[in-house]
Amino acid sequence: MKRHWILPSSCATLRSFIVVLLFLSIPAAGFAQTPQASPVASPLAGSGIVQEPFGEVADGPVEKYTLSNDNGLSVSILTYGAIIQSLKVPDRNGYAADVVLGFDTIQEYVDKSPYFGAVVGRYANRIAKGTFELDGETYTLAINNDPNSLHGGTQGFDKHLWTAEEIQDTGGPSLKLTRVSPDGEEGYPGTLTVSVTYTLTASNELRIEYEATTDKLTVLNLSNHSYFNLAGEGSGNIFDQTLQLNASHFTPVDDTLIPTGEIAPVAGTPFDFRVAKPIGQEIRDGSSEQILIAHGFDHNFVLDRPAPDDTSMIVAAVATDPASGRVLTVSTDQPGVQFYSGNFLDGSFAGKSGNVYRQGDAFCLETQHFPDSPNQPDFPSTELAPGDTFSSTTVFAFSTR
Ligand code: GLA
Repeated sequence: MKRHWILPSSCATLRSFIVVLLFLSIPAAGFAQTPQASPVASPLAGSGIVQEPFGEVADGPVEKYTLSNDNGLSVSILTYGAIIQSLKVPDRNGYAADVVLGFDTIQEYVDKSPYFGAVVGRYANRIAKGTFELDGETYTLAINNDPNSLHGGTQGFDKHLWTAEEIQDTGGPSLKLTRVSPDGEEGYPGTLTVSVTYTLTASNELRIEYEATTDKLTVLNLSNHSYFNLAGEGSGNIFDQTLQLNASHFTPVDDTLIPTGEIAPVAGTPFDFRVAKPIGQEIRDGSSEQILIAHGFDHNFVLDRPAPDDTSMIVAAVATDPASGRVLTVSTDQPGVQFYSGNFLDGSFAGKSGNVYRQGDAFCLETQHFPDSPNQPDFPSTELAPGDTFSSTTVFAFSTR
């Protein structure tokens, strides 16, 4: 908030004295605008949207839209994959860092991105052996994560161009990305018209709103695959960052990371994040078969809801970086969240900072329906019928401690 202090010009000395006093008394707190230079330059001052070219893919040019608010937060979104390419967030002293992994060029996204920041679909996470039955028909998907289908197949939603439109009156700079996924794309039935709207609010929330309709019965699971490091991307591992998950149960997996169907209690296991603890605390617990299978955490947590079919917005997760004070609170209307501790980052490439990304250098909190739901009758349904509208919201809210 901008303040104006008006004093008579005859009081020049007194005025300078008061100005100095006021300056000294401003706490360098939270998201207050501070006079300090930011180590990661914010592209914009104030609230708004800026559009820039971001190279080209085979299907055409890619645009980058940067949404900023008055508190020093900014998020850059690509029309390729609806990717969150950058997310700059101030720490408790007002210093901004880019808290998501990613690249500076479109070619790197095309060549090697493990879904950095992308919207994954049609089906986020895995479908066992790339097949499911719907309405008496068997559908066959690409096996792109042997022996399963992962994140929508060979060319999922993360590898397509979306059409962008700036939206007014949504409580902050807002960008809607739309695409039509043709009937049979990647083996999935039905023409799906899908949109994702990103809004950056004045209260430091990044709201993600999905909508979809179909002309034929289909299955759908949408998520955002941002890799967070609250100390800044490229700054090392996230083992000292703490996580709290609002989940008393999780879905254990077989050795191909497909849920066994069991809804297991987290109590007494490394998967118990009901009370905040450092992510690294039990990530090397060799007595846990589930940790060994996934090389860390790569599991769907079943969010604690008042009733199994409840779809109200609840807090799913709170992650904190004790050093910088940055806090990420994830809220959603979805039944699950995939907590993935960046186990497949293998140090074979560098990101925006020029630093190599290694195992455990980021965490993902992918709000979602449970993996492999089309083959698991006891999991909440992921079916979408013609005439119905799928709509879902996830909020990444930032604060400091
Ligand atoms: C999800 C999966 C992981 C991995 C990543 C992408 O989080 O659960 O197993 O495939 O996406 O590398």
